[in-house]
Amino acid sequence: MSKCALITGVTGQDGAYLAHFLLGRGYRVCGLRTRRGSDTLWRLRYLDVLQRVTMLDGDLLDLSSLVRALRRAEPEEVYNLAAQSYVATSWDQPLLTAQVTGLGALNVLEAVRLTNPAIRFYQASSSEMFGKVGTAEQNETTLFHPRSPYAVSKLFAHWITVNYRESFDLHASSGILFNHESPRRGENFVTRKITLTLAGILQGTQDKLYLGNLDAQRDWGYARDYVEGMWRMLQQDEPEDFVLATGEQHSVREFVEEAFGLCGFDIEWQGSGVDEKGLDRATGRVLVEIDPAYFRPAEVETLVGNAARARKKLGWSPKTPFKDLVRMMVEADLKLTGLSPAAILTAARTGAKA
Ligand code: NAP
Ligand code: GDD
Repeated sequence: MSKCALITGVTGQDGAYLAHFLLGRGYRVCGLRTRRGSDTLWRLRYLDVLQRVTMLDGDLLDLSSLVRALRRAEPEEVYNLAAQSYVATSWDQPLLTAQVTGLGALNVLEAVRLTNPAIRFYQASSSEMFGKVGTAEQNETTLFHPRSPYAVSKLFAHWITVNYRESFDLHASSGILFNHESPRRGENFVTRKITLTLAGILQGTQDKLYLGNLDAQRDWGYARDYVEGMWRMLQQDEPEDFVLATGEQHSVREFVEEAFGLCGFDIEWQGSGVDEKGLDRATGRVLVEIDPAYFRPAEVETLVGNAARARKKLGWSPKTPFKDLVRMMVEADLKLTGLSPAAILTAARTGAKA
């Protein structure tokens, strides 16, 4: 009989890619669905897996719904990917974030313990937990210094996972994942915001890209690579926590330059602070401006992971370099907006008009 996995957050970026990956491995996949949004199924549809995922109604805030879902699915593996995952929102909705992202993980662990403690459990921990970093690179032994209600909530979820592993002998592991993106990334996250707005500018429906801190540096990988690492963690004989990262970092500014550069814009930065602007060198047109609304009360300035443990024990390594990731996202958003990626990128390369 095929194994079954239950994914919370199946409608999110990682949930959809993980469902696709597990179905490809012959799993029966069940996904928890909140029914809060109007169309939350678009990612599953896009990856052509919606018909093959058994959707179960439930919410991380409702323990009884989690127990019911586990009883129905009878999974061997549970991946807890559900969260209020947008860092900026966590200052506006700190209590909700703590309840869903923090206590929600505990609810899933309790549901597992009450239903079937033999289930293998994955917790989606985050590099945001490192926050104000004091080391050049971060790995599984680096001290945490969370800088947002989101990161504090994730840290609770992380430690309660460790605690349940040590207290109840659960096969519970946390993946401490650095930023990972894709064409299916939520539109508020900076990478997708950049590629989607760039497409809008080319289409003529948007004038400029407004951003906050251009100097924040992140270790950006491709979500499809990372979900395989989640699965590999649960195939280990012993549960353990793992960092997944590329080991390379880039600033928001570099992401802008790379994305716009692919479409023929050579960005020149002028001014500083909130008055800084990104101009197209050829035409002088202002394409990027700073909007202080996007600055955060406390910023995580730099993150870069060391995934040596995952490489050694899981045989996992990221396959998608930064430039390929940016190109993939740019092409996808041009296509989504009805533009021809091939024509625009070729024209940019050859200097011709698209
Ligand atoms: P995402 O796209 O924002 O997806 C979040 C998912 O959580 C959605 O399916 C959402 O369902 C669900 N959800 C929200 N509140 C819920 C609730 N109360 N009960 C049940 N489900 C709820 O996030 P992602 O980028 O795929 O990330 C997956 C997980 O990894 C998250 O826990 C995130 O914090 C963590 N993480 C992400 C990254 C990254 O770079 N992507 C890095 C490290 C850690 P609806 O569709 O109903 O809203
Ligand atoms: N979202 C956003 N919008 N971020 C901006 C903007 C903007 O207009 N301008 C600058 N930034 C900066 C943010 O201040 C942050 O330093 C960086 O871009 C990345 O922001 P996000 O893409 O929102 O991601 P994040 O790093 O805060 O959080 C993501 O990665 C975490 C892992 O480190 C999320 O996926 C989290 O759920 C995840 O845990």
